[in-house]
Amino acid sequence: MDVGDERVIALVDMDCFYVQVEQRINPELRNKPCVVAQYKTWKGGGIIAVSYEARGHGVSRNMWADDARRLCPDLQVARVREAHGKADLTPYREASVEVIEVMSRFAVVERASIDEAYMDLTGSVQDRLKHMSVQDITPQQLKGTYAQGFPQTSDPSESAAVDKEERRLRGLQQWLEHLSSGGQSSRAELCLTVGALIVEEMRAAVEEHTGFRCSAGISHNKVLAKLACGLNKPNRQTVLPLGSVPELFSTLPIRKIRNLGGKLGTSVTETLGVENIGDLTQFSKVQLEQHFGEKTGPWLYDLCRGIEFEPVKPRQLPKSIGCSKNFPGKTCLATQQQVQHWLHQLALELQERLNKDRDMNGRVAKQLTVGIQQAGDRSFSRCCALVRYDAVKMTSDSLAIIKSLNTAGSHQEAW
Ligand code: CTP
Ligand code: CA
Ligand code: CA
Repeated sequence: MDVGDERVIALVDMDCFYVQVEQRINPELRNKPCVVAQYKTWKGGGIIAVSYEARGHGVSRNMWADDARRLCPDLQVARVREAHGKADLTPYREASVEVIEVMSRFAVVERASIDEAYMDLTGSVQDRLKHMSVQDITPQQLKGTYAQGFPQTSDPSESAAVDKEERRLRGLQQWLEHLSSGGQSSRAELCLTVGALIVEEMRAAVEEHTGFRCSAGISHNKVLAKLACGLNKPNRQTVLPLGSVPELFSTLPIRKIRNLGGKLGTSVTETLGVENIGDLTQFSKVQLEQHFGEKTGPWLYDLCRGIEFEPVKPRQLPKSIGCSKNFPGKTCLATQQQVQHWLHQLALELQERLNKDRDMNGRVAKQLTVGIQQAGDRSFSRCCALVRYDAVKMTSDSLAIIKSLNTAGSHQEAW
């Protein structure tokens, strides 16, 4: 059976990314409890990124800066810059380009978000294996690597006694011994370990060239790599072999899996009455097909066994360029003029970024989409052709395609 274990896939995700960008700009913020907040008008601003030191004090994303300061009196607060009356994420986007550039020296890269990317290391691993074997791999080359599921210990009281680094090393040593003992899946596991060597080098290069630290997951597919990346943050990487999947999945809530965080995950949980992704292994492929269709059913059948085949697509640039702004509570827009004003501000940012994108990347956008999300309401979106990078034209086109949403009627001033 093809379980897809000849592939080696990594997901790299920057640690508290916006915080690191601000700490590079202002070194006084380094090694301190620190957050990035946007807008100051309400309760000191909303927190969008949190350093690990601040997390230790209980500070989290979406808190107000004023509330966070009560938890952590010496909290440093960096501010997101503003342009066109809204948050300006340009410094973080530019830092992201730097990171992707370094990563792409090592492998084919798929940018997945502003601070993460998938890489397919299969080819590089095969190349390295022509000149090396298990015996050449030492724990020193894997100084930031965890092997998920190792150490395999039968005595839980012992595992609680040792500190995290000691346990990591013990697990890694056990993993390397397990590799050289040469079980039936040892070729696949060797490939993952060589992948981990490459990712160690890549993460060191990212830190050397950008100053930023990151975490990574190394496994046989995108879902497992993404999951593994989150297991030992920050500044560490985790190898997730197929053999460690059943134990991990037996207690892992379905929503924690890539693509199952939203509606589909909720529907799986409710339809089947199960909590953990591992619980899905008790259903037959036919049963899953009946409930979720001929595409999603078989996908779930494989997925709960740690099997998935989505390829890494070579793509370093975002597919779309967009910006948005929320108007919570009293700031809610109530007249046509206000709606038009803010559409224009958004269009100005778009115009700038579209022009820059055309100059740097030699491509031209063809479609304009306008989306609106109202509290408790279904979201609405409409699109039209984008013919010119012109803020005034984009504003009037946007207004035209969302006019039908105005319950006050277009002849009035109200919205
Ligand atoms: N971000 C945001 N709003 C969100 C999610 C993310 O503004 N709803 C920004 C954050 O400020 C963050 C970056 O996108 O720095 C990457 O997000 P994420 O990887 O989820 O978190 P990090 O802050 O990087 O923290 P971690 O170390 O846990 O990855
Ligand atoms: Ca991150
Ligand atoms: Ca991320």
